Amino acid sequence: MKPVNIGLLGLGTVGQGVANILIRNADEIKRRTGRDIIVTRAAVRNQGKAEALELGIDVTTDSQSLVTDPNIDIICEAMGGDEPALTLLNLAIDNKKHVITANKALIAVHGNDLIDKAREQGVSVAFESSVAGGIPIIKALREGLAANRIEWLAGIINGTGNFILSEMAEKGRSFEDVLAEAQALGYAEADPTFDVEGIDAAHKLTIMASVAFGMPLSFNGVYTEGISKISREDVEFAAELGYCIKHLGVARRRDEGIELRVHPTLIPEKRLLANVNGVMNAIVVHGDAVGPTLYYGAGAGSEPTGSSLVADIIDVVRGMDADPMHRVPTLGFQPDAIAPLPILKAADYRAAFYIRLQALDQPGVMATVSGIFGELGISIEAILQKEPDAAALVGSDKATVPIILLTGLVQEGLIDQAIAKVQALDTIIEPVTRIRVETL
Ligand code: NDP
Ligand code: HSE
Repeated sequence: MKPVNIGLLGLGTVGQGVANILIRNADEIKRRTGRDIIVTRAAVRNQGKAEALELGIDVTTDSQSLVTDPNIDIICEAMGGDEPALTLLNLAIDNKKHVITANKALIAVHGNDLIDKAREQGVSVAFESSVAGGIPIIKALREGLAANRIEWLAGIINGTGNFILSEMAEKGRSFEDVLAEAQALGYAEADPTFDVEGIDAAHKLTIMASVAFGMPLSFNGVYTEGISKISREDVEFAAELGYCIKHLGVARRRDEGIELRVHPTLIPEKRLLANVNGVMNAIVVHGDAVGPTLYYGAGAGSEPTGSSLVADIIDVVRGMDADPMHRVPTLGFQPDAIAPLPILKAADYRAAFYIRLQALDQPGVMATVSGIFGELGISIEAILQKEPDAAALVGSDKATVPIILLTGLVQEGLIDQAIAKVQALDTIIEPVTRIRVETL
């Protein structure tokens, strides 16, 4: 089947993430969609800089030529800002191209008109990547939770702001210092006051509320406070009281209307949201049927955001030529692309292990046990010998002592061999306990 051609507006942090994912995962994506998807052209301001990336994409500074190019099927906008992005997306829709954007400012403020125009022209407007980076929250709200009346949602939805608050709380770093690092990492908006004054979070809340409650995008209705006035002292005092300060976006349905607000918030430190740190985002969505659900992941960055944008591309491609009942293949991959993979036996799994032994309290036991692990090439990451039992107090040679080992990553077959050898020692007097350790 003919490849799907993508025109990319912008080849910065997000644009490069999209291009890299489409190149690296081309085969896997084709197994899902049945079509090759190729970024054929990209528009930027600085052509030399983009060409130096050597992505095999035809780069131009003439953005208009991209959105009117008859060979391009889908326009992805990762340029940012109001103009020329808005004009270009309108032109793309006029030219009957599907449009996908990471630009939450644009969708929150101009989305109603864009969506109307796209419906008239029979094309899609998709914006998963505009909210919470790599978290598929729009899909969750629109599809996974479609049975529910959404009561409220609340989340950490600005990666830069959360990175700043976390580094201030954990490492005592200054606001300015952490913001500069977030900019260098590509997390921050072109104008970082959008991040620190809550405007970016307000854009994202606008979009989520619209999808959650079935209302027009209403950016002007969002009450907005940022984090710029939060001092290190506030963070420390809140911690003394058992709270974390997080910047939250909250959308709540009440009998009287909808609350839409973004602001710094004290959250009890045991709550899941209080433990979302760095550039990570998380959103709690409360549906009347399902209750609270939590969505967590990287809230900014090149490939996390690219992941969401490419998912939108895949959605659009699946809709282009599939019959309506089989738009998304039942198992996610095209039926003829499903291939058996070898399923490993337990002995071939790899894991780290917690191992507890009850040993006679005699000299040399620890060395013998360590020797068994060493001979099999199993590294011991930590070892702990607890107090011997009461028999030791009266000098009995039957006194026993618990020994706890943490191993490094190891093939399970080897750990089975090590445990069998340890268990066979006269000095080990109870069955060895083993529990797998996953750092996740
Ligand atoms: P970058 O600044 O890294 O990249 C912007 C790209 O767009 C660059 O290639 C730039 O070209 C190009 N560009 C900008 N203005 C023009 C113009 N007038 N004409 C032609 N090309 C232009 O931005 P990001 O990738 O970080 O952000 C892009 C969008 O994605 C924004 O809307 C942002 O809000 C959103 N977003 C960003 C995330 C992130 O983690 N960074 C996460 C989620 C969404 P050149 O370099 O030549 O100037
Ligand atoms: N500047 C945004 C953030 C990018 O830090 O969350 C992701 O939308």
